[in-house]
Amino acid sequence: MVTKPVIPFPDTVALDDVNSAAIIIDQTLLPGQLKLIALHEQRDIWEAIRQLKVRGAPAIGVMVAMGLYLAAKRLPEDDEAGFFEGLTAARDYLASSRPTAVNLFWVLDRMVGTANHHRGEPLAAIKRRLLMEARAIRDEDIAICEAIGLHGAALISEGDGVLTHCNAGRLAAVRYGTALAPLYKAHEAGKKFMVYADETRPLLQGARLTGYELLASGIDVTLLCDSMAASLMRKGVVRKVFVGCDRVAANGDACNKIGTLGLAILARHYGIPFYVCAPTPTVDMSLPSGEAIPIEERPGEEVTAMWYGTPMAPEGVKVYNPAFDVTPHRLITAFITQHGLIRPPFARGLARCCHRPVNP
Ligand code: MRU
Repeated sequence: MVTKPVIPFPDTVALDDVNSAAIIIDQTLLPGQLKLIALHEQRDIWEAIRQLKVRGAPAIGVMVAMGLYLAAKRLPEDDEAGFFEGLTAARDYLASSRPTAVNLFWVLDRMVGTANHHRGEPLAAIKRRLLMEARAIRDEDIAICEAIGLHGAALISEGDGVLTHCNAGRLAAVRYGTALAPLYKAHEAGKKFMVYADETRPLLQGARLTGYELLASGIDVTLLCDSMAASLMRKGVVRKVFVGCDRVAANGDACNKIGTLGLAILARHYGIPFYVCAPTPTVDMSLPSGEAIPIEERPGEEVTAMWYGTPMAPEGVKVYNPAFDVTPHRLITAFITQHGLIRPPFARGLARCCHRPVNP
């Protein structure tokens, strides 16, 4: 039985300009508690990103847009050189929070570019421009995700089983998300389908977040351990795979949550279409292939102890804990962008798509 929507969802990331704070859903508390927290200090924002209170490539991008604006807002308005030094320092600090999702760097560069473009204007005016830019980045995220949803929903047929990994839903963006946006749009259109969500070890974004938001939205979702995907595919239950991405190289190699590569290999083996939902700000045209994408390594305790009452691995054991992997472009059926589908050869299609305005 499909559960009815029960939870009104606030935006994942929002700006409270009056109180000079960013308001986020603290995702480390989910699924137990849907709690909004206010972040005032740069250190709070940095730690919220680092600790995955706010996570997912698009949400991280919007978060740092707001963070950099809030940093700029505090700078004195009578010293231009000091203002730009302060802005650069805040940019570098926020950029050090996580290395893989390119949205973070794209947004920071865009915000600093806006300030530089208006250098010479009164600093109060530059602050207003940064506020407008941060709001534009947020609004674009919503529009991009909705467009991805509409393009992706057309691929979902009545009765489909759709497998997804990690959380590329509304909790990973401001609203809708990327890989889950097609599911929301297909659901809104009245299509009946089943979603299979990998739990996504070690941080359980699939179990805690995808399970939570799909259930709350009344979408039929079944949770499975990552190691169960092959057997589900073999049964013929999975008709499509939809995943998000943190950085796509110019040739179409796509970096996403650890475990995505294994799914892509399985999908190819079983002849299942594998779609990567990609807003163009997640495409990094400066990198020729996925080899150059920096992969975050996270603390071993996330694997050995974090979700257990007592540690589930012997103390001192070495742990391999990369947060992401790279799926070679040959294993991807198509990218779903805000401008539509890109099918192979990806290099040409991505280049063309990235030259278009970001807004769909
Ligand atoms: O470590 P996370 O939770 O930030 O990883 C998130 C993912 O890998 C998502 O799939 C990706 O950011 C796309 S979100 C629309």
